[in-house]
Amino acid sequence: MHKVKDKYFKTLIPSHDIQAKVVEIADLLNADYANKNPLLIGVLNGSFIFLSDLFKCMNIDCEVTFMRVSSYENLRSTGKVTQIIGLKEDITDRHVLIVEDIVDTGQTLVNVKEQLVKMNPASLKVVTLLNKPDAMLKPLPLDYVGFKIKNDFVIGYGLDYDGHGRNLVDICVLAE
Ligand code: XMP
Ligand code: MG
Repeated sequence: MHKVKDKYFKTLIPSHDIQAKVVEIADLLNADYANKNPLLIGVLNGSFIFLSDLFKCMNIDCEVTFMRVSSYENLRSTGKVTQIIGLKEDITDRHVLIVEDIVDTGQTLVNVKEQLVKMNPASLKVVTLLNKPDAMLKPLPLDYVGFKIKNDFVIGYGLDYDGHGRNLVDICVLAE
């Protein structure tokens, strides 16, 4: 059990399983993007640990950058995607991979994709460590998915409860 602020969380996906999945996804990307010099765009803040581990397992020529959006307050999505920090890279004709920690309702991803598509990348695909299929408001193509989970709030491995718990090495779920 992990106490984070006023709540208790228990392990849902242990670190060992996460690391194995990261290697699996990186292997797919190494094969699919060889000679394409992909640009990985991490969606801050939640994706930074996943992206860092994933990037270390990539053995092809590739680049990384970040953008920042926010739709969550405390335990739930507000539905409004705010605080967009833009990209300074020119992604025209680049092979772009959006890297997310989690696709929940999918609103963040829809918004990020809309912004990036306007910049005319050569291709635009999505990598997400976690997905809550039952929470998605409409179907969205997710190209690389680590784990599908139930519609429960999770923290750890970059994901936070009100800013806390990002440093847990396991992905943990609310215990109540
Ligand atoms: P949407 O609903 O737009 O959510 O797909 C995407 C963003 O919201 C955050 N998020 C979570 N953060 N535990 C968290 O710590 C969760 O269970 C959770 N669900 C969504 C996350 O930043 C994601 O990028
Ligand atoms: Mg996020």
